[in-house]
Amino acid sequence: SFLEKFVDELSDMPRVKGFDVINGVHVLNSLKIGMFHKKWKFHRDLPPTPVFAFGTSKEAASIPGPTIEVLHGVDTYVSWKNYLPSKHILPWDPTIPTAIPHTKKGIPTVVHLHGGIDEPESDGHSTSWFTAKFKERGPSWTKKNYHYHNVQHPGTLWYHDHAMGLTRVNILAGLCGAYIIRHPQIEMPLGLPYEEEFDHPLVVFDRSFRVDGTIYMNSTGNNPSIHPQWQPEYFGDAIIVNGKAWPYMIVKRRKYRFRIINASNARFFKFYFNNGLEFIHVGSDSAYNEKPIMIKEILLAPSEIADVVVDFSKSNSDAVVLSNDAPYPYPSGDPVNEANSEVMKFIIKANHVVDTSKIPSKLIKYPTPKLSDASVTRYIAMYEYTSNIDEPTHLYINGKSYEAPVTETPKVGATEIWNVINLTEDNHPLHIHLGLFVALDQTELVNLDKFKECMLKMNDAIKCQVGKYARGKKIDVPAHEKGWKNVYKMMPGHVTKILVRFSYIHTNESYPFDATAEPGYVYHCHILDHEDNAMMRPLKFIH
Ligand code: C2O
Ligand code: CU
Repeated sequence: SFLEKFVDELSDMPRVKGFDVINGVHVLNSLKIGMFHKKWKFHRDLPPTPVFAFGTSKEAASIPGPTIEVLHGVDTYVSWKNYLPSKHILPWDPTIPTAIPHTKKGIPTVVHLHGGIDEPESDGHSTSWFTAKFKERGPSWTKKNYHYHNVQHPGTLWYHDHAMGLTRVNILAGLCGAYIIRHPQIEMPLGLPYEEEFDHPLVVFDRSFRVDGTIYMNSTGNNPSIHPQWQPEYFGDAIIVNGKAWPYMIVKRRKYRFRIINASNARFFKFYFNNGLEFIHVGSDSAYNEKPIMIKEILLAPSEIADVVVDFSKSNSDAVVLSNDAPYPYPSGDPVNEANSEVMKFIIKANHVVDTSKIPSKLIKYPTPKLSDASVTRYIAMYEYTSNIDEPTHLYINGKSYEAPVTETPKVGATEIWNVINLTEDNHPLHIHLGLFVALDQTELVNLDKFKECMLKMNDAIKCQVGKYARGKKIDVPAHEKGWKNVYKMMPGHVTKILVRFSYIHTNESYPFDATAEPGYVYHCHILDHEDNAMMRPLKFIH
């Protein structure tokens, strides 16, 4: 790589409060957050890069966008505004199902709060997009001002673009940011690092740049006669954390909390510290673990979140590099190279400090889900379709395009078993809107080719007798991933059994909104290049 590592200091994104304080009482806040075309400095030696950035103003807009901090139980309203120009800064492929044709002016965007338990009208549905000044609107567009109830369990979420067929380019251009739900009454007593100085989101993604600073995205697809631009996975050379390429951070000899969000299109990270320092894993995606778990490596698929504490007083060296060794595509792609095997460096100050934060023996225990609570069992199969040059043309769920009539119609409040069958060679991170789920186990499929042949013909796991094939090795879910998730890694050639819950995990109360309303929700693979073409299906709720 042509860029020197560890020369830029890690930035902290602007923090925006989703609540107001009036006479000492916390009350709702209405935020205006725009999407702006501006330039962003990713590295000391790289000219400023044209990006699309979220911010409360163009000047304040940043990559990633501001960290929105909200309080449990206090509503936040956000009116997301599109100030983007008429033309995109990245190539966009008109041959995959996209929001609007190229010939129309404007860039469709829509914001999804990932991990949020929110009304359909505010969920950022892929077809609820809008262009600048709401000039063009998607078929399911309903409102300008999004309502976030924030009554769910505390933890880390993130917001990002979700426009049909454009999510991968809009997020590549910079449209993402962190969102933290805090619940001081139950979180403060835990004793984890809590002050701003010691609690940071780390939004990590990979990008490639040209020498002039512009983001490089291959404009020729690997199947150009079918898709002139679309590629099955975007990978970049540089690793970016909070908007800086391979940054460094000067830390005190004490505990810090990092909410690590993988905001890459397709890159999995297997994080580890190069001096053997451990992570104290406290939460996965939006929810706390039952208890802290010490681990040496963390495998994070696109959009998964690792909520960790790192105790730098335990470091045996004065500097430590957060490193990565996940092959790309995961798991059977290229091994990491000099550039992408390192993420960021922590430089530990010599003097000892008083650290009053602690690691409690227990965190937060949510009621354990029961298999017997499940009212429906579904089979969700992931397929990849290739052309005669053996390059992917598209990916489908259950052999169906996104537009095909809805097939997943759970009851509000239901618990369901989903058996997710991955018939491809790649690992696909499955994400379900509204619901949370617990990954139970992953079972290898034997005679995969025979099963695949049947599935491609019949599209029906039961008729193809999935039980006859799902009897290989069973893989346990790692301890730190046994809690409530909103994304999980579907292993290739395996059936992953998940228990999905369409209700809150911390209380029996029902949603304060109508989840059956239009436009409903979606579920999809969170490799953005897959989601865009068209590994995504509608999810509609019934009473
Ligand atoms: Cu993080 Cu439907 O997305
Ligand atoms: Cu995928």
